[in-house]
Amino acid sequence: MHSTDPHHRPIRSFVLREGRLTGAQERAFEDLWPKYGMDWTPGQPIDLSQVFGGSKPVVLEIGFGNGESLAEMAAADPSRNWLGIEVHRPGVGHLLLEIERRALENLKVMRHDAVEVLTQGLSPASLDGVQLFFPDPWPKRRHHKRRILSHQLVDLLAKVIRPGGVFHAATDWEPYAEQMLEIMEGASERFENIAGPGQYAPRPGARPLTKFEQRGERLGHPVHDLLYRRR
Ligand SMILES: C[S@@+](CC[C@H](N)C(=O)[O-])C[C@H]1O[C@@H](n2cnc3c(N)ncnc32)[C@H](O)[C@@H]1O
Repeated sequence: MHSTDPHHRPIRSFVLREGRLTGAQERAFEDLWPKYGMDWTPGQPIDLSQVFGGSKPVVLEIGFGNGESLAEMAAADPSRNWLGIEVHRPGVGHLLLEIERRALENLKVMRHDAVEVLTQGLSPASLDGVQLFFPDPWPKRRHHKRRILSHQLVDLLAKVIRPGGVFHAATDWEPYAEQMLEIMEGASERFENIAGPGQYAPRPGARPLTKFEQRGERLGHPVHDLLYRRR
């Protein structure tokens, strides 16, 4: 199991490069954060029905990048609430503007390490689904330990996803796809591969092309989707 010892510092899956905010993104943090952003103090339990003002099923996206594909999915499925967690400030600013532009009422944003939120904030079986699209591949061997999809993450996903809920991952980095498959197949007592044992899933129509996916396509990388149902 993932360590709950507060003195144990887990490895981070990101290196924070602040990046410059555009003027519009700066204003988004001032004007739109109170409306669409979600503050959280580590350790505090998160009450999702209070956050969204209702009890629709909630889908979490980890590391949404600039958030455009997440905004598109939230707009296409108002029957569910959507929560995006990202550490990169310009990406968060970009998504705040996108939520406002599309007038979305079912999407909220957190700026945090998603692993911390899963560990310390979200309650068991509180999510209908989790999506992880094109996580940083950390291609160098000495950086593999930074890859977010690990046995520890699977323990956390098994905790927060309700029975019957779905975990959806996608990557354009072949060795990472193979590792994801191996880790998830090793968790088959808790997660059933929707595509069949050991199989990648056909690209689901509901997943829009993401920014990193477009970059991967230009480089000729094949994309793999993985879909698992919590038993
Ligand atoms: C390669 S980008 C992909 C972004 C987006 N999903 C896409 O496909 O365009 C990975 C993103 O995950 C974010 N990230 C990495 N580790 C994270 C963590 N522990 N919590 C939240 N975001 C994280 C990074 O900041 C980065 O924006």
